Amino acid sequence: MGSWSETIVFLLVAVYIVTSSPLIKEKEPGADWPKRNSVKQPWADQNTTDKVVEATPTEKDVIDDILGEEVPTELSDIILKAADLTKNDVEKVDYTGAQVWKVATNKTNIRVIISRLHRRNLLSTWGGSQSSIDVLVKPNALQNVTRVFKRENIYFDVVIDDLQQRINEENPPLDQNELELQDRRGHRMTWKQYHRLIDIHGFMDYLAKTYPSIVSVKTIGKSFEKRDLKVLRISDGKPTNKAVFIDGGFHAREWISPATVTFFINQFAENFDVESDDVKNIDWYFLPVVNPDGYEYTHNVDRLWRKNRRPGIPGRACLGTDLNRNFGYRWGGKGASNNPCSEIYRGSRAFSEPESKALSDFIKSSGANFTAYLTYHSYGQYILYPWGYDNAVPPDYQDLDSVGKNVAQTIQQTGGSEYSVGSSSGLLYPAAGGSDDWAKSQGIKYTYTIELSDTGRFGFVLPTTYIEPVARENLAGLRVLAKQVHKT
Ligand code: ARG
Ligand code: ZN
Repeated sequence: MGSWSETIVFLLVAVYIVTSSPLIKEKEPGADWPKRNSVKQPWADQNTTDKVVEATPTEKDVIDDILGEEVPTELSDIILKAADLTKNDVEKVDYTGAQVWKVATNKTNIRVIISRLHRRNLLSTWGGSQSSIDVLVKPNALQNVTRVFKRENIYFDVVIDDLQQRINEENPPLDQNELELQDRRGHRMTWKQYHRLIDIHGFMDYLAKTYPSIVSVKTIGKSFEKRDLKVLRISDGKPTNKAVFIDGGFHAREWISPATVTFFINQFAENFDVESDDVKNIDWYFLPVVNPDGYEYTHNVDRLWRKNRRPGIPGRACLGTDLNRNFGYRWGGKGASNNPCSEIYRGSRAFSEPESKALSDFIKSSGANFTAYLTYHSYGQYILYPWGYDNAVPPDYQDLDSVGKNVAQTIQQTGGSEYSVGSSSGLLYPAAGGSDDWAKSQGIKYTYTIELSDTGRFGFVLPTTYIEPVARENLAGLRVLAKQVHKT
């Protein structure tokens, strides 16, 4: 055998590895961000877009001139990246120097300017209210965005001046005491830390094993990367029970959501015997992590990932679908994008994603008498009811509004946080394809999206010390809802 054939085999294998390895990460929005430990910060000598344009009349011209054209993704970038990633260590996206600003939206054109800057990939939007919008500004864009805002007399506060520092401080390891306790409990879950999926699932299995007469766990499907979608049910099995479905972790980066939902699970499962009749007369269904692939990705690679991790169009760089734009009621309407690179990409069709499909199939086929559907997100402190697809409300919206207000009032009396109550399109923005709208369309009466804390000081990167207070005040809110369900 000559070395020729060996060389050819080697080349074929090499090409195969480079083109098909799951280690190859294609370039997605944000992936061109500086990586931790990179020798040279890529933005250090990037002054090419930094020209000042003095006399430009319109806002569009100003922005176009300052920022120049968007640079398309280069194939060579992807291949270089692939080569990088054959090293075994996972490189995390580094947010050193990135800032979060709260921008006043007191003038009409501000949202337009922001969306233009967004298209230029200079900032991304985090959250907001009727009077302001939170934006994440990349370090290499700080100068340009500041210039545009100054020029347009747009007011903003720097809320986070180094995002990576906040990320580093967000989720510290447990202290020795806690670690020892953790080992004695039979599961690793705490509400002093944001846990990995394996701890959350281990906790659910532990409860099912420990309380088999009331707790059961069922895998209702698999995520794109084949992780379990685990639903935990708490029920005493009375045939007259109403049912409530609660989920969390739709959006990967909203870590407070699975933490809060698992807190509810823990409370009801561990104390079922002494719980109120309202709680005991309900069949509770919990899916704490709707988007497990995204959730793990936020732990491993990019803390601020939102969507799931399913590749979009083959051969294209962008991936991930916003699962909360993928549901089949008025799918593809306002506030959802058909661009796979968008953070609010709706997917190729309604229920194109295994996660949204499994959730809806389960609700439709479970036979439970669902009277409420609650989906926990962050952040902003809102209790939102349908519709989300457009500025409209269902016929029974007054019931939803008054129960929502009771929940909010109880939350405030318990922990002090103020939640605003209203329809999601009215209070926030229209966004079609949400799970809440779909649940309502299935006849589930009390359907809410709850946006947990905070209102933007930490945003998605909420320190672990907040977990217990946020979860506790929302448990009080949930009891109000349970009472209402019991009465309905
Ligand atoms: N922040 C949530 C989202 O953007 C709000 C969803 C509210 N519901 C809706 N159907 N628009 O997904
Ligand atoms: Zn969300």
